[in-house]
Amino acid sequence: MNQPIQDAIRKRRSIREFKEKKVSRDLLYKIVDAGIWAPSGLNNQPWRFVLVLDAETRDKLAGQTTYSHIILAAPSLIVVLLDKSAMYNEVKDYQSAGACIQNMLLATEELGLGAVWLGQILQNKKSVNAIFDLNDNYELMAVLAIGYPLHRNQKSQRKPFADFILQEIRGDQE
Ligand SMILES: Cc1cc2nc3c(=O)[nH]c(=O)nc-3n(C[C@H](O)[C@H](O)[C@H](O)COP(=O)(O)O)c2cc1C
Repeated sequence: MNQPIQDAIRKRRSIREFKEKKVSRDLLYKIVDAGIWAPSGLNNQPWRFVLVLDAETRDKLAGQTTYSHIILAAPSLIVVLLDKSAMYNEVKDYQSAGACIQNMLLATEELGLGAVWLGQILQNKKSVNAIFDLNDNYELMAVLAIGYPLHRNQKSQRKPFADFILQEIRGDQE
């Protein structure tokens, strides 16, 4: 059975090393579009994006995280922010941002690209806003480093399935 979404979910790995090849704007827009089609509470779509394709801005962002080497290696970056004026419930809006980011990661996988979700940089979110001249109305959620994977040797593990199931309340049908 063809299961492209299941395949993308299982095959996706955080990619932290990239080829120098640039990512076309068309592909980046497709990735952002996948993010925009994530669900959000009341369909409020609180996510906003900054696309970074130039070396100068990349260098400035790299200075805001201990993962600078990843940012410097990536030909493109998508900065994901929440627009506070569009928010209605903090928890739900943060959840929506997560759904948006995961959609983008899966789209990246489908397009033959690789990406990593960078969160450590949030500790310098005010400085990141300043780089883009954005005021406190915008709250940094993540930076996605995106490019063509240098290799696909990354391994990742998950705990056993049963560790996550707190209860399974069975009905008569099974
Ligand atoms: C909220 C969040 C923050 C993350 N921050 C970072 C980060 O700052 N640097 C990094 O290298 N990876 C970061 N990651 C990637 C995780 O390390 C990675 O998803 C995890 O190790 C599982 O590996 P996999 O994505 O290949 O399955 C982050 C992931 C999430 C969801």
